[in-house]
Amino acid sequence: MKVQVNAKNRGHQFEAQEAVPVLFSGLAHGVDLPYECGSGTCGTCKAKLVKGELLDAWPQAPGRKYLKHPDEFLMCQCSPKTDLVVEVGTFVHPTDPAVCGPGQASGRISHVKMLTHDVMLLDVDLDRPLPFDAGQYALIQVPGIPGFRGWSMVNFDAQPKQWRFVVKKKPQGAVSEWLFDDKSPVNGSKVDIFGPLGHATFHPSVARNLLCIAGGSGIAGMVSIISRAVQASYFNEFDGDVFFGVRSMRDAFFLEEFSVLKRTAGSRLRVTMAFSDEDVSADFTQAHPDIQFDRGFVHEVAKRHMQGRFDNVRAYIAGPPPAVDQSIRFLLLEARVPADQIKYDKFS
Ligand code: FES
Repeated sequence: MKVQVNAKNRGHQFEAQEAVPVLFSGLAHGVDLPYECGSGTCGTCKAKLVKGELLDAWPQAPGRKYLKHPDEFLMCQCSPKTDLVVEVGTFVHPTDPAVCGPGQASGRISHVKMLTHDVMLLDVDLDRPLPFDAGQYALIQVPGIPGFRGWSMVNFDAQPKQWRFVVKKKPQGAVSEWLFDDKSPVNGSKVDIFGPLGHATFHPSVARNLLCIAGGSGIAGMVSIISRAVQASYFNEFDGDVFFGVRSMRDAFFLEEFSVLKRTAGSRLRVTMAFSDEDVSADFTQAHPDIQFDRGFVHEVAKRHMQGRFDNVRAYIAGPPPAVDQSIRFLLLEARVPADQIKYDKFS
């Protein structure tokens, strides 16, 4: 089926398949349609149906609250039943050829490991190598539960056959209940993937000091970015500062991974963990000599430690939306980091 998208600046045409969301078909054909979550919550992908018929996979999607007119729909949830003409109220350009573009793939969960009481590391073996840029994420659909969930890749390889994710348990979440229930047959399960996605990517040609601010499972994409930078010996020339916020010591993870990255990178990479709810103990500090610790919300800790060091910075932010919003605010208004050097994807 043919889809014609009329954007503010120009029109785009692409082929779309039945039962595949309009957003996925457009992105897979190199049309950078607007999106953030890709999973029906943010409303960013809203469009107006001018001609044709759609199938809505999730009429109760929370992102529908952003629709103001009966002809509007979410491109990440609706697929074509006929040829379509749609209107998008933003500028739409071809996707940046320098960034890895998405496609559909399938894979199998090959390994899971608990990192804390409510955070899991999950490996998916893909049916074919699929490259991604450091900092990108993917949409995953698990068996028997409709809808895709967005998770960031932790690892970085040039031609990865395995994508590694960090997943946080969500109260009453159907996917969480399946993944975190000891009796679920998670290992070996087939999953559907659409990715890689996201605009908050890192390539060594950025050539600026790196500042990464992440809360909770948002740290996943930062590990990928720092791994990519360490592989390129980036910290021989530039500084790197990672601020990783969690509530307490029992919520901390990736300490060993960051210690190894820090020892490999040398003194120009600094990693600081921020605990919002408790002071770090002396034992904990001694057990992790490569990591610095501080008390407070992650954006406050970042602000204190980065005082006077915001020149020539490229900032990456991830985590719960309030933490992301606070970090963006202080970077823009107080630290005066240019808006085009603050990168984030709100997809969780
Ligand atoms: Fe479609 Fe977020 S609701 S991209």
